[in-house]
Formats: sequence, structure tokens, C-alpha cells
Amino acid sequence: MSIRFDGTNLLDRMVGAHGISPRDIAEGEPAAVAALGRFHARVEAGDYGFPHLPFDDATVKEIRRYADSVRGGFDTVCVVGIGGSALGAWALDCALRGPHPVQPAFTVKNPRLVILDNVDPSFVLGALDSMNPKKTLVVVIAKSGATAETVAAFLIVREWLEKALGRKASGRIVAVTSENRGDLKPLAVREGYTTFHLPENVGGRFSVLSAVGLVPAALAGFDIRKICRGAAAMTSVCWKPERAVNPALDAAIHHWLVWTLRGKNIQVAFPYANRLWGLAFWFRQLWAESLGKKHDRAGNVVHVGQTPVAALGTTDQHSQVQLYMEGPNDKVYSFWTVKKFAKPGRIPKGKVGFESMDYLPGQTLERLLDAERRATAAALTEASRPNCVYEVDKLDEEHVGGLLQLFEFQTAILGELLDIDAFDQEGVELGKKFTFALMGRKGQQEHVERFQAYERRRSG
Ligand code: PA5
Repeated sequence: MSIRFDGTNLLDRMVGAHGISPRDIAEGEPAAVAALGRFHARVEAGDYGFPHLPFDDATVKEIRRYADSVRGGFDTVCVVGIGGSALGAWALDCALRGPHPVQPAFTVKNPRLVILDNVDPSFVLGALDSMNPKKTLVVVIAKSGATAETVAAFLIVREWLEKALGRKASGRIVAVTSENRGDLKPLAVREGYTTFHLPENVGGRFSVLSAVGLVPAALAGFDIRKICRGAAAMTSVCWKPERAVNPALDAAIHHWLVWTLRGKNIQVAFPYANRLWGLAFWFRQLWAESLGKKHDRAGNVVHVGQTPVAALGTTDQHSQVQLYMEGPNDKVYSFWTVKKFAKPGRIPKGKVGFESMDYLPGQTLERLLDAERRATAAALTEASRPNCVYEVDKLDEEHVGGLLQLFEFQTAILGELLDIDAFDQEGVELGKKFTFALMGRKGQQEHVERFQAYERRRSG
């Protein structure tokens, strides 16, 4: 497995005053190595568990045994979850099978993944219309076991399943949740659902390599041993304190410096591969929720964060790059590129008879895609816009597992460098409580009153 980070176009010799110098990097390196050490100590203390996930052979075995036992009985896996309980499954499915709507035909050997991560009724009810309950396996995922959107969608899906299958419905439902927290676990026990747990010290957005991502992946037919093998290899590399061999550490140092020294407050994740589009959305959550914080670890109000944006090459060259080239110079661009595609996409050899077209015959789409990416990087560099590259050799289970783990380590190291807790998400709590209040959940009087006060302010 080979994944490389190249920060050359972040340097001041490439982008002038908007870049960082080798001296900045040399001076920042000890802080980053210390941050990695602090993170290591927290993992050793049991505070954070994601680095251990790829080594959990027992869970992988258990998931594979279950997937093997049900294979052939369904052509659709319906995941009900949101945020960290949905995006990992989508990232894996998109990267390993291909982006919608160009995935291979769905059969019981190649079941499709339908991910219900919203409560838009037209989406949820449309999804039900598109699935056959007799050929669907439902995976409900909620670490807290209480997320309103997940519970609401699940209750609808459960009724839909029960109408078609009666008491057999519970045999078609898998729950992934915390062992000792929330009400999904007791519901699963009461109804007899197959259940998998995720460790308490693994947060939602860091849980893709737990049962949260691996159960849907195994049911969709991916080799989860290989995903974990790639992630395990990357984990070993990511613990090394030398940035020359540790791409997560190297990338974290570069991003920290270009963000905090040069004020690049927006991070554009710019994959040049449709298969990485799901991963870009997974990354968006990881970066936003982990690094967007009000307080540092000492409790000071800091309001840090780097807004992540997902852009797709080449598609968004024709949508976003005008802004990127000439708008505010407040962004850092991370190109994600694949060295070798499974098929290069040969352009037919015959000449067409027009100069504007005749340079293309005989070349490949792979070559054009790479040329477009390098051309965009060169253009951004000429416009003094700092940019960098993550290159994977190819998109298979091992590389995708490795890439996920690299980004998680990079985020964790950044969190330590910024002296924030990258693993909490206090900022989403208030909105959740207002939703509970509006929907009549018990025990929410304080938030009912706060919401009413807000409405009064609105109406003047
Ligand atoms: O990263 C996180 O912890 C969150 O984004 C959660 O994944 C999200 O809120 C869903 O939570 P739950 O799995 O409890 O439904």
C-alpha cells in the first residue's frame, strides 16, 4: 500500500507570502511530534479508541461470520443512521464499488446500499418505494441510541418491514449501537435483532472502521479484512515521530502552519476521482466537527475551525475554480489523486478531422484527468494559492482503509496542535435539545421556554 502527501505547493518558494517556509516547518515540527506523543498517551490511557479498531480481529471475524450467514437472502442493505453513523458506509461503498448512479447492477450477490441519513419524507418514502421489503436487510446505526432522525426513520422502516414479513421482520434487522448507553440496545434485545457494538471511546466520525462502517461494508460484499489490513499498516506508520515517513504527521504540520500562520480558514478537499466523492463528504464531517471548537482544553474561548469544502475534479473546475483563482485568498486546496485507475478509459484512435478534437484520440481519460489536476494545481500556484496533494496508488480495500486512517490521524494531531478536544461535539447539542422540545420529548421544559423566548425575540 502506498499513499503519499506532497506539500511542495504550500511552500513560499511556490506561492510567495501565502506559503510557509522550510524554516516554519522545521520550527513547527517539534510541536507536532509532541502533539503526536500527547495523542499517543491519550490513546494508551484509553481515552480514544479509533487507532485500535483495525487490529480488532475478533470483531471483524464476528461481522464476517454474520454477513456470510445471511448472504444471498437480500439485494438491498438499508442503513438507517446519520452523521458518523452513515458517512463512513457511504465513503466505503462509493470508493470500492463506484459512485451512484454508475454502480454495477444490483443482485443478491451484489446488494445495493441505501443510506437513509435524512428525514426528508420524499427521500425516506421514496427509498421505501424503491426497495422490496422481502429482499432488504436493515441496519440501524446510532451510537447514542437516541438520535431523533435515526429513530424516526427506523420506526417507519420497521413498520414497512413488519407489514411485509410479520414476526420474521426482526430477523432482518441489525442494530449497531453502544453496549451500555441509549435505548436502541434494549430495543434490540427485546425484539431479538442481531446486534454489534462500537467501543465507547470511539466517536461517531471516527467509527468507520468499527461495526458502524464494517457491518454495511461486509453486507455489501467488501473484504473488510483488507480494509482493516490497509488501515492497520497506516496506523503503524502514523505513530512514527518522523514526518519523512509519516504522511499524517507531515500533512498535519503543513496544514496547521498554512492555516494558523497564513490565515487559510477554508480547506477544499478536491478529489480527482468520483470514487472519492463519498470520502470527501466523510472528511468534511471529520474536519468540521473535530476541529471547529469554541473552547481550548484549558477552557479559553478560542472559536477555532477551518471550514471544509468538498469539490470534485474535474467537474468543479467548471463551477468553483473561478472563485478559487480570483476570489479571496483564504483557502488551502488538498488534491486527492489516484495514480492508477482499474481501467484507463482509452479514447478511440480515429481522427475526427477538427484541430480542437484531434489531440485526444489514442490518449486516455486517466491521462486527461491527471493533466487537468496538474494544470489546476499549476494555475492555483501561479495565482499564489497554496495547494497540496494526497496520492494513492489505486482504489482498493487496503488503500481506502489506509486513507481513512491517515485522515483520522491527521485530524487528531491537528486537534492536539490546536489544544482542543477533537473528539467532542458540544456545538450540536443545543439544536438537538430544541428539536426535542419542538417534538414534545419529555423533560425538555427548559428548552421549550428558551425556544419560546427566541420566537418572541423574532416577532419583535
Ligand atoms: O461524530 C459524531 O459523534 C456525530 O456526528 C454522530 O455520528 C451523529 O450525531 C450521529 O450520532 P448517533 O450515532 O448517536 O446517532
